[in-house]
Amino acid sequence: MACRFVLNNASIEEHVPADALLLDIIRRNRGMTGTKEACREGDCGACQILSGELINNRIRYQAVNACLVPAGAITGRHVVSIEGLNSEQLSPIQRALVDNGAIQCGFCTPGLVIALTGFFLNSRLSDENAALDSVAGNLCRCTGYAGIKRAVSALCRQFDLSASPLERRIEDLIAWQILPAYFSTAPGMLRHVHEITYAFHSPHPSPLQQERELVVEVIPCAFLSQYQVGKASEPLEHAILIGGGTDLFVQKPEQLHSQALYFLSNESLYPLIRKAQSDLIINALTTIEQIRTSELLQAFFPRLAEDFKLICSAPIRQRATLAGNLVNASPIADLAVFFLALAAQLTLVSGSETRIVSLQNFFQGYKKIDLKPGERLLEISFEIPGKADRFNYEKVSKRTHLDIASVNSAMLIQEQAGKINKVHLSAGGVAPVPLYLAKTCAYLRGQTVCLATVKTAAEIAQTEIAPISDIRGSAQYKRLLLRQLLYAHFAELFPGVFEGGTFNAG
Ligand SMILES: Cc1cc2nc3c(=O)[nH]c(=O)nc-3n(C[C@H](O)[C@H](O)[C@H](O)COP(=O)(O)OP(=O)(O)OC[C@H]3O[C@@H](n4cnc5c(N)ncnc54)[C@H](O)[C@@H]3O)c2cc1C
Ligand code: FES
Ligand code: FES
Repeated sequence: MACRFVLNNASIEEHVPADALLLDIIRRNRGMTGTKEACREGDCGACQILSGELINNRIRYQAVNACLVPAGAITGRHVVSIEGLNSEQLSPIQRALVDNGAIQCGFCTPGLVIALTGFFLNSRLSDENAALDSVAGNLCRCTGYAGIKRAVSALCRQFDLSASPLERRIEDLIAWQILPAYFSTAPGMLRHVHEITYAFHSPHPSPLQQERELVVEVIPCAFLSQYQVGKASEPLEHAILIGGGTDLFVQKPEQLHSQALYFLSNESLYPLIRKAQSDLIINALTTIEQIRTSELLQAFFPRLAEDFKLICSAPIRQRATLAGNLVNASPIADLAVFFLALAAQLTLVSGSETRIVSLQNFFQGYKKIDLKPGERLLEISFEIPGKADRFNYEKVSKRTHLDIASVNSAMLIQEQAGKINKVHLSAGGVAPVPLYLAKTCAYLRGQTVCLATVKTAAEIAQTEIAPISDIRGSAQYKRLLLRQLLYAHFAELFPGVFEGGTFNAG
């Protein structure tokens, strides 16, 4: 495919397979080796770059891991590697890392500079915790992180982001010498690339597109049924849908090479999250970060922004979609566990056909889901939690940040007149699928919230699960964790009933 984008301050065109990774394009094809290569699995952040998307004549940048970004997803973007941030003098971010002893071998430094620049581009406030979260996906093997923390702290004191509205941010960062001056011309360069590339969004493929070997398209998902682009002989059921690619490009990069790929994009979809009567509806292509930062969702889930910081790292959350999380059907998928406790429904579409399936029934066995060939996940919906509803989400993993769960769980519960009259409970890491604990819920309905009820519920939950021993813990440990998470739900949601230490008796 012809992949056209702006790399730093130049428009470029690369003829590469659609699954070619941006990391390889930058390092091997373009010889820009400042972007480092280490894990190639999204874990270390050494390969971070900024990916900028033109929205209303301004570019919105995000720090992402180039090792998981395929060529098919960067057409029409502004890609900034570390070379694109270098000026004759060190930028204040580079200077802070040097001055605070945050650099030894320097291998992680380009990724750190990119991640912190991404923070400066997007954060409304110079909040130190948020700045630290932005580098939670950057591993350093030398410094022990104390120097990095000092640098982050110094930068937050040096620059007051609250004085710089997001609409004026790029101009301010140029003035503060965090960004080089050419950033002011980037929207014009991108507009030009879009003019050349418009065929990508046209129902009439250009001769260049017709020539391509792989069926590759960047499809605004809303128009998928109209578009059905690609070779007529290759219907959608034979194509692999790519959301953020953060699962596919880790699990099966080789298998993608000979396949028809459809790159889904939520760029033209608005709003991604909406209220419809008594329901909340989330488009399946919404990224985990868009869910985490949604003000609409935060109004009903006040701990959402903090809870979702425990899911992936910032650069992965920027690309990983809700659809990918559910369809990949990992038994510990965090969003699956979260939405199971909301008794969510999925809308699946194929052409003009629509089907509604409960999330609970969607998962049919290990990595087996109720999704027919040619179908895709359009959206997820659930009843808006009422004022009397209480919701809690818990995750235990080996590391606090950037780690998948050993066991995770969510619970929605409503108590009226001293009795539980509504409850949904889910758990991950304890069965071949993200599990809805149906028997435990059935028991809890009608019970009083007290220690005896919770203990019996925990015993019933043990009969519903079948954890296995793996690198995240023994089966026995996972059983213990689920019991503790059930106790944690009640301790968190009914603090007056379960005061500190109450559960220790069991
Ligand atoms: C470093 C790292 C850390 C991670 N940490 C976590 C974590 O803490 N918690 C967690 O739950 N997960 C984690 N993940 C796993 C994973 O990346 C996420 O679950 C993510 O949400 C997958 O979304 P995606 O859009 O990138 O999926 P993709 O890789 O694009 O796709 C995954 C699957 O979904 C299919 N698909 C995509 N969109 C659709 C659609 N609309 N309709 C039908 N099928 C579709 C694809 O064909 C593919 O089979 C992590 C991954 C990495 C690399
Ligand atoms: S090389 Fe480690 S995140 Fe990309
Ligand atoms: S300074 Fe060596 S890996 Fe960070």
